[in-house]
Amino acid sequence: MEAFRIVGGARLAGEVRVTGAKNSVLKLMAAALLAEGTTVLHEVPHILDVEYMAELLRRLGCVVVHDVPTRTVSITVPEVPFHKADYDLVRKLRASINVLGPLLARCGEADVALPGGDAIGSRGLDMHVAGLERLGATVRSEHGFLIATRAERLHGATVWLDFPSVGATENLLMASVLAKGTTVIDNAAREPEIVDVCGLLLSMGAQIDGVGTSTLEIEGVESLAPAEHTTVPDRLVAGTWAVAATMTRGDVTVRNARADHLEIALDKLVRAGALVDELDDGIRVRCYDRPRAVDVVTLPYPGFPTDLQPQFIALNSIARGAAMVTENLFEARFRFVNEMVRLGADVRTDGHHAMVRGKQSLSGAPVEAADIRAGAGLVLAGLVADGVTMVFEPHHVDRGYEGFVADLVRLGADVARVSVNELA
Ligand code: UD1
Repeated sequence: MEAFRIVGGARLAGEVRVTGAKNSVLKLMAAALLAEGTTVLHEVPHILDVEYMAELLRRLGCVVVHDVPTRTVSITVPEVPFHKADYDLVRKLRASINVLGPLLARCGEADVALPGGDAIGSRGLDMHVAGLERLGATVRSEHGFLIATRAERLHGATVWLDFPSVGATENLLMASVLAKGTTVIDNAAREPEIVDVCGLLLSMGAQIDGVGTSTLEIEGVESLAPAEHTTVPDRLVAGTWAVAATMTRGDVTVRNARADHLEIALDKLVRAGALVDELDDGIRVRCYDRPRAVDVVTLPYPGFPTDLQPQFIALNSIARGAAMVTENLFEARFRFVNEMVRLGADVRTDGHHAMVRGKQSLSGAPVEAADIRAGAGLVLAGLVADGVTMVFEPHHVDRGYEGFVADLVRLGADVARVSVNELA
């Protein structure tokens, strides 16, 4: 059994650099399926989810080479990829569902195992399915697989999403770039990672208007060509460092971070008392006093990101005053609050609201990470807790944070990854 062992009390100071975004690169890798030949991606993080996606693409017949030192992944896609994504990989990587659109467009069929619920909620696929059906696909669920087929080429259509779902927008985008005619995706998600996927698709020869807006208009083309692309920096990892700097009253420069992708979160930190400087190639976040509690309401981009919600609960738990945190995307994301309470935090939830009353200090304890961001939030809490905090199930954090422990140590934290004898 492994854990992060954190001795609280250190002030984080120094520099870190973020790589490309996990939530973008997984989709960029899926998008490579849309063209025969070799697509090359740069700034690819060395994290578990990338390895899972590489393995999935290999099973679909691609040759995937991940050159870790240069952060480059090259994906060579055959003329006709296989079209089946099995449960053993899909259960590890929910983003596997992103091969649905490209495989359907390229192969005429996609059999993708249904992902189980993540630890953060049920995460439906209804909008993916309804959208693909509007483009002419037939979709059925059989023996744990979602099976999408098309008789002929997909055809353009207008799709109105009930909610700006990131995954559904991406799947429909990737299916429609090779469809016949014009597709309009209305109420589309407009996260920076979607803009990034559009960037790769445009380089491959796709025709997309309205990039970065909530109405995407796609004129389908006959075929796409492989391309080379640099992944957008990870705003969620950058945001995690910014919160860590504020909580520890530290001074951290995050290189390669894009302040324009973190506007609401950085504004919250300024209101909490941090000083935020936008640099040419990143951000510097400093805090000299105990932070003030700040209200947070998660919403699709450009609203406050749900993936920074646990980190802000951690911040509020040691802040001056009280704040309300409202979670509008994933109902189970507050499960991690129970672990925060183990650390002495005063947090009460009621439905999708959490009232956090800041305390002078937290008290180190063993806790468990249920998902990537909950894990990050608990590590941040451990940094300011008295004594030793053990965060178990650290593999969740590995899914999204490259070299997390090494970066924390470089910034002055007393953190190590340890193996723990279960019976000890
Ligand atoms: C992506 C991100 C995740 C982030 C989330 C919201 C990746 C790999 N993951 O997840 O880190 O927290 O965006 O920013 O990029 N929904 C439905 N039906 C659907 C689709 C979605 O009900 O067909 C619901 C989900 O259950 C959830 C909400 O819509 O409550 C948001 O989901 P979505 O935006 O699709 O998130 P993901 O793409 O799964």
